[in-house]
Amino acid sequence: MRKMIIAGNWKMYKTIPDALNLIRTLKPKLIGEKEVEVIICPPFNALSPLAEILVDSPIKLGAQNMHWEEEGAFTGEISGKMLLTSRVSHVILGHSERRKFFCEDDEIINRKVRKALETGLIPILCIGESLEEREANQTLKVLENQLLQGLSGIEIKDPARLIIAYEPVWAIGTGRNATPAQAQEAHLFIRDLLNRRYETEIANNINILYGGSVKPANALELLRQPDVDGSLVGGASLKAEDFFQIIQAGKEVCN
Ligand code: 13P
Repeated sequence: MRKMIIAGNWKMYKTIPDALNLIRTLKPKLIGEKEVEVIICPPFNALSPLAEILVDSPIKLGAQNMHWEEEGAFTGEISGKMLLTSRVSHVILGHSERRKFFCEDDEIINRKVRKALETGLIPILCIGESLEEREANQTLKVLENQLLQGLSGIEIKDPARLIIAYEPVWAIGTGRNATPAQAQEAHLFIRDLLNRRYETEIANNINILYGGSVKPANALELLRQPDVDGSLVGGASLKAEDFFQIIQAGKEVCN
């Protein structure tokens, strides 16, 4: 049985006071929450202040990126070891915005995934096709390349240590989500790839999240798909009420 995971990727939004405000609204609503695993991924400077408020909360913290080295002369970068000291448990890697604006390729992403695992962080590896690729019937090929290269040389002993996020680029921030059938098709394909790569026991227990214009109005039908094990939410995670409603949709699917 895979756990339902709802993660919020805040991207480059929210100052520390704004971040604290949102968490002060969300935290009391999730006291004792066990069914759904909730992860918040704020900008780096909000991680430590939020960690302090969240000590006694089931809400987990994720970062949005990290470097593949532990330390060194890499101006402007942050390492997994540094994230750990802010009580971060997860890290988003390979997001399409990192691939596009910061020229991250599959090899760099693979190094980061390796380092995250070595450091004890749970990588949320993002993969997804662009609109041109979908229209050229390249979706499955792109997913295969990104997944297999991202995980190249990486053995997984515990399925809870890795999360995959399917985020079609054309659905991110556009208001145009993948249909539940499109999401399920991609997720099942990813599941099959994981099965080729890892033992069945492992592959069938890795969470695959859907991301791309998830909102309260469409969360339930997406989360009901058998291989959609949660969601990586962008815009709708910036409002406590919307994000909470998506978490509620996740709970509904669990029951
Ligand atoms: P939106 O939910 O704003 O489309 O963003 C999705 C995303 O990129 C999450 O990582």
